Order: sequence, then structure tokens, then C-alpha cells
Amino acid sequence: MNRTFRTALIGCGHRGRKHAVGLKEEQRCEIVALVDVNRNAAEALNSDFGFGAAIYEDYKEMLLKEKPEVVVVCLWTRLHFPVFKDCVNSGVRAVHCEKPMAHTWGDCLEMARIAEESGCQLTFSHQRRFAKGNMLVREMINKGQFGELLRMDLYSPPNLLDCGTHTIDQAFSFNNETPVKWVLGAVDASDTLNWFDVRSEITAVGTFVFENGVRANIQAGGPDQDMWGGVRVIGKKGFIEVFWDGNFGQAVVYDDPSWKPEQCDEKPDVQTVRMVKDIFDCLISGKEPELSYKKALRTSEVIFAFYESVRLNKRIELPLKGVTDNPFITMYESGKFTIKK
Ligand SMILES: NC(=O)c1ccc[n+]([C@@H]2O[C@H](COP(=O)([O-])OP(=O)(O)OC[C@H]3O[C@@H](n4cnc5c(N)ncnc54)[C@H](O)[C@@H]3O)[C@@H](O)[C@H]2O)c1
Repeated sequence: MNRTFRTALIGCGHRGRKHAVGLKEEQRCEIVALVDVNRNAAEALNSDFGFGAAIYEDYKEMLLKEKPEVVVVCLWTRLHFPVFKDCVNSGVRAVHCEKPMAHTWGDCLEMARIAEESGCQLTFSHQRRFAKGNMLVREMINKGQFGELLRMDLYSPPNLLDCGTHTIDQAFSFNNETPVKWVLGAVDASDTLNWFDVRSEITAVGTFVFENGVRANIQAGGPDQDMWGGVRVIGKKGFIEVFWDGNFGQAVVYDDPSWKPEQCDEKPDVQTVRMVKDIFDCLISGKEPELSYKKALRTSEVIFAFYESVRLNKRIELPLKGVTDNPFITMYESGKFTIKK
């Protein structure tokens, strides 16, 4: 099908500009509207990319007047859920939203429920799944290059919700989307961050175990990380270090010492172009997108279970039950942490 889809981009800041590269490249995407409370940001993006789109400061007005079929949401985290809900209520068929899903587990669950019930295709921007190196590693793992998976070491910059989400998503993709059994975590909240208006720890360290027995040890932020961001995948026959964007660190196959993976040098924009293509392909075919909310929900569940484990001082079995808030924020607001002045 070669028809184009009326598409709107809400949020024309840093990430809006990154997504614009993929949207511009996609033949089936017609950008009809750009929205930003900062009109100058939307106008600058419009002229830099030559979209010729209508400009709005109010996304609700845009939804009403433009009736877009596809909406890309590049807003700060707390806005993801309400804007998605408004898009669904105005009949949008596909919403592609920045990660992380939401700032509370309750909002994540609601987004998933609404997507399920409305049939609106909902995806989250864990775009690194489309890095060539990450795709190659998935292939190598599935072909048994490193033998049966045993363990993964996960690293990310701070914090668990904002950056850890990329690494946890990467680990799920390497372990065939296998669900997680339990999570146990600890945080260093002697200081805190407030990125995109979500309060978080400066360091998080913990373990989670997948249903197939593969163990994941994670550190997000803090000292002594031996990879800045990515996953060390360890199997019975070898291991590979895969950074976020699919570049490789050390890689060894024990009974083939001469083997070395070829580095995949490509610009991160290529990931965005592939991501946007998949979104439109799946909108037409009805297939589950690579970045579907179902996958983002599993990653979010691990993150909120991690924070719940800190709150209860115990190992948390999944599925996560009895939690709707962001336990870290609740603990912070109740004065649980002693913060540096
Ligand atoms: N996928 C990734 O690799 C990646 C990387 C960085 C950030 N992010 C995520 O992207 C999201 C956005 O981050 P950013 O860096 O683009 O932020 P940003 O501040 O650069 O851009 C946000 C834009 O939204 C606009 N805005 C705010 N409220 C609005 C509203 N109600 N209606 C319309 N426009 C509004 C702002 O004026 C701004 O231009 C965050 O959730 C962040 O976690 C993802």
C-alpha cells in the first residue's frame, strides 16, 4: 500500500529533531502538523526540514483540527500518558512515543490497557534495537555463536528509568523477550537527579533473573563501570560486549580464538530511519512492531519492581503486584533519603 498517513509531531526539541530525520525519509509519512508550546522551536524545525506543516502551540487544538492518523510524541516523561490518551480519544491510529513509557507503573499499565482496548498501535523509542550491531548480536545469539546464555552484565548512565530503560530493553532483545522472574535492587540516593522532571537516584545496582535462568546484573550510573552503556552477553561458548549503539567491545568464542566480530560503523540516524519504517510497515500489516508497548511494558516492570524492592527491602517476584506509583518518588517525597545539601 503506497498511501500516505497524516502525521503530527508533538514536541520539537532535542528528540523531536532526531525523529524528524526518520519522518522526513519515510515516503508514507506526510507531516501535517508540528506542535510545541515554544512556537519558535516548531517553526525552526519546520523550516529546517522543509515540512510545510501547520504549526500549533496546543496539541489538543491540533488533534481537533488536523485529525492526524499518526502522532509522534517527543515530550518529557510525565506528559507521555495524558497525551497518548488524548490521541486515542481523537481517533489517532498509531502513537509513537519517546521512552521511558511513563513516570509511574500505574501510568504504564493504563497506557498498555488503552492501547490493547482501542487497537491504537503504541510504540516507544527504544530505537537502538535497530542498530546494525544489536541486530547482528541477536542473530549470533540465536545461531548459538556464544552457546547457551548464562548471564548478562548491564550498564547504563544514570538513571534506571531514563537510561537504564535502553539497556534493559537491549537485554530483553538478546534473551528472546523472555519474561523476568524476580528483581532485587539497591539505590544510592545520597544525591538525586531530576531529569525530564522525574526524580531519581544517582546510582542503581541490582540483579534480575529471567524465566530461562539467565541472570542479569545491572549498574546504572556511579563509579567503576567497566562499560559506559550496553550489555556483556556471556554464554557457555564465549561472550561479547555490545554497547548501546551496537558497537562491540571485547568478544571471544573460546574454541575459535581467531574469530572477531566486524564493527558496524553507522550513524545513529540510521536507527531512527529503520524505526520509523517499521512503525509504518506494521501500521499497514497489523504485525506487532519491534518497539511495541508490550516490550516496553516488560522493561518498565523491571524498573518499577527494582524501586519496589528498595522500598520493601526484599526481592520482588514478577508480575509486579500492588504498585501503581513510582516507589522511588514516593520514598523521596516522604523524606526516606538523606540528601546532600
Ligand atoms: N530515545 C532516546 O534515545 C532519548 C534520548 C534523550 C531523551 N529521550 C526522552 O525524550 C523525551 C523528550 O526529551 P527531549 O530531550 O526531546 O526534551 P526537550 O526539552 O529537548 O524537548 C521537549 C519539547 O517539548 C516542548 N513541550 C513541552 N511541553 C509541551 C506541551 N505540553 N505541548 C507541546 N510541546 C511541549 C518543549 O518546548 C520542548 O521543545 C524525554 O522523555 C526523554 O526521556 C529519549
